[in-house]
Amino acid sequence: MKRILLTGCEGQLGRAFQELAAARPGEAWRFTDKDQLDITSAPALEETLSAFRPQVLINCAAYTAVDRAESEPGPARRLNVDAVAHLAEACQKQGTRLVHYSTDYAYHNGLNRPLREDDPPRPKSVYARTKLAGEEAALSLCDQSLVIRTSWVFSPFGHNFVRTMLRLGAERERLRVVYDQVGTPTYAPDLAGATLALLDLHRPPTGLLNFSNEGVTSWYDFACRIMELARLDCRVEAILSADYPTPARRPPYSLLDKSRFKSLSNYLIPHWHDSLRQCLMRLGAD
Ligand SMILES: NC(=O)c1ccc[n+]([C@@H]2O[C@H](COP(=O)([O-])OP(=O)(O)OC[C@H]3O[C@@H](n4cnc5c(N)ncnc54)[C@H](OP(=O)(O)O)[C@@H]3O)[C@@H](O)[C@H]2O)c1
Repeated sequence: MKRILLTGCEGQLGRAFQELAAARPGEAWRFTDKDQLDITSAPALEETLSAFRPQVLINCAAYTAVDRAESEPGPARRLNVDAVAHLAEACQKQGTRLVHYSTDYAYHNGLNRPLREDDPPRPKSVYARTKLAGEEAALSLCDQSLVIRTSWVFSPFGHNFVRTMLRLGAERERLRVVYDQVGTPTYAPDLAGATLALLDLHRPPTGLLNFSNEGVTSWYDFACRIMELARLDCRVEAILSADYPTPARRPPYSLLDKSRFKSLSNYLIPHWHDSLRQCLMRLGAD
């Protein structure tokens, strides 16, 4: 029976995996969040790996507070870089396949056509720099590692743009949302499903891979669509990023080129519109 260890299981992506795993007999999953396995603890990690001996480790744990990272780079680095390096070394030692996630923010390179895995990364925030360094650690320290760069993750769980818009849209008559940042939302259950499709291949891929939902939008259009589908009477106004300063800089363009993913898998990637509908249905807001 295939054994799969998942870290960070209470986050958006971790919870999506928990739901999908329930429908996959023939696999033994162990779900851990930081109370069961703190990935910054190398001894705890090694102990769990040698006791459970997973064939696959899916790392959904991360420091994801993008703005807070600007003022606390140490904790961001410990989780996104140092812990990932330990994970990768431990996986390499045991012959365990490692799946790790990174961000479109790693690109931030001024290109304005869909970004390919071999385009140069030019991260411009602490979060993005730690995620890039974590990718490099995973890929260099573990031969069997796959790093998936994704963007704008949303889900019925945890903190995300969709849940924030639903809350603010119910409280306020108007909202100002930036329209000069373009990308693609990614529904966590689709990202989890796509990852499993890759792991189910006869020879699962290694290296760097982009994944997001289909389609392209701005945060402004994303917000408008949420208000419209949830029938919230809140007027959304388009503003420039310069009028909404945040501690961390975000890329103006981060559409991901998914050619590599599509060449490997027949997984049908849903359009973000359809996945947003699914998410709102789950939240009882459609
Ligand atoms: N969210 C996005 O928009 C986005 C965009 C692009 C890429 N990504 C990447 O996608 C991946 C999944 O993101 P997500 O949105 O699912 O993240 P998330 O919701 O923030 O989940 C991260 C999980 O890791 C846990 N965690 C924190 N410290 C830990 C530790 N020391 N040991 C074990 N677990 C720990 C967190 O617990 P606590 O909450 O209790 O701290 C949380 O349950 C991450 O690699 C992220 O960088 C996310």
